[in-house]
Amino acid sequence: MILIPLMMKGIYVFSVLALLITFLMVFYSTLNLETAKSYTSEVKLFSKVEDQNLDILLSEPQSFTLPEPDVDNVSVSESFRQTIPQNGAYWNRLLYSRLKNLGKRESPLRDKLSWSKCRQANEESLKINVHNFNSYPAPFQDFLRVMDCRSSAALALLPHKCLPIESDGENQTLLLFAIKSNPGNFERRQAVRETWGQEMLYPNGLQIRRVFILGNPYPEDPNLGPLLSFEKEYFGDILQWDFQESFLNLTLKMNLFLPWTLKHCPHASFVFSGDDDVFVNTPALVTYLQSLEPSKASRVYVGHVINSAGPIRDQKSKYYIPTSFYNGPYPPYAGGGGFLISGALLKPLYSVSFVIPFFPIDDVYIGMCAKALGVSPQGHAGFQTFDVKEEDRDNLCIHKNLILIHQRLPKQLMYLWKGIHSPLLSC
Ligand SMILES: *[C@@H]1O[C@H](CO)[C@@H](O)[C@H](O)[C@H]1NC(C)=O
Ligand SMILES: *[C@@H]1O[C@H](CO)[C@@H](O)[C@H](O)[C@H]1NC(C)=O
Ligand SMILES: *[C@@H]1O[C@H](CO)[C@@H](O)[C@H](O)[C@H]1NC(C)=O
Repeated sequence: MILIPLMMKGIYVFSVLALLITFLMVFYSTLNLETAKSYTSEVKLFSKVEDQNLDILLSEPQSFTLPEPDVDNVSVSESFRQTIPQNGAYWNRLLYSRLKNLGKRESPLRDKLSWSKCRQANEESLKINVHNFNSYPAPFQDFLRVMDCRSSAALALLPHKCLPIESDGENQTLLLFAIKSNPGNFERRQAVRETWGQEMLYPNGLQIRRVFILGNPYPEDPNLGPLLSFEKEYFGDILQWDFQESFLNLTLKMNLFLPWTLKHCPHASFVFSGDDDVFVNTPALVTYLQSLEPSKASRVYVGHVINSAGPIRDQKSKYYIPTSFYNGPYPPYAGGGGFLISGALLKPLYSVSFVIPFFPIDDVYIGMCAKALGVSPQGHAGFQTFDVKEEDRDNLCIHKNLILIHQRLPKQLMYLWKGIHSPLLSC
């Protein structure tokens, strides 16, 4: 009576196991087949491209060692301290505790260089310090979890982007276009490549270079791997980091771009940071740069300046900032759609970013860091990050006289670029 059910149970277990193993074997072989298939199709796609480098195609994350910030030498302006109130909000408290430690040799800021350690430390600190953390929107919670973690592996690093530089300064990068994009925006990148973002050599041997800065694709994106591999190989302008693309990670994106430039493009005179859907009148921009007095050229922070703004408290806004997170006004800042900054400012900005905690809105954050360095954004009427009047949007003469306009479709970029270069255009 007892033996039979036991035996039956044994047979049952055995057959289930056998079935499972068969299933696993079949699954494994199809998996192999599939990777093999996608691998050959990628190789086929690239066999047309010369000098193919399989290492790049396979996109193994590479580690990127952050340069040491000059934290011993950071001083924060008095006007910054006056702008940002000292109160009970989390970010404000974090800031003031760091300001208090500024200059102390055993400052804990150095430990922030390890991504995993930092993430753990953040998580613990959040539980203790943000009493209503659970009421924050999910993306905001995600932001806080990795807040101030910055060491991230790269999926495409472009170490030779700004080479070669001749010893006499020939072929030095005059302007580096640092364009915030995301993996799905191929059409926008291509329009930028064909229009305002062209890499070219200006008279006097001055170069314009271009990088698109990307994170990882959104989870809901289709497989963009093959197209991205192609872009990396063929255009050599994709700087991709191994972190999740998201609006609230733009500050992280900017803060990885700073050390990247310090390491791999240290001689860039100017950097243009902007979105992939803006129109830039590059000849007008170059003329403007060349017109700058040498004394001013090293402290340029120019764009469409937003004055007397403050946090938006509407939970539905993508710019939402909870009161318990940050309480105070924003310092003046240049709108993130597109602004210019001197290469000479990148190192001080990078160093001071170890003192000013990351803020989830990237252009506000740059404004804060600049303010801490005592650099004020300069307004320029040629930068229209809120776009021109509705009736002027197809007006070529208006565009010919501006430097930056937000925001245009790829087709419109093509139309505007051709138009402002037409010899028939008389304004
Ligand atoms: C501190 O910064 C100043 C100005 O940027 C620089 O001249 C000086 O050499 C720096 N000092 C150290 C110890 O790095
Ligand atoms: C500068 O770069 C251009 C184009 O990349 C090249 O043709 C030229 O020879 C370079 N100049 C020098 C001095 O190497
Ligand atoms: C930013 O990227 C990190 C690393 O991939 C991720 O853990 C975090 O959730 C992202 N933040 C947001 C707000 O998505």
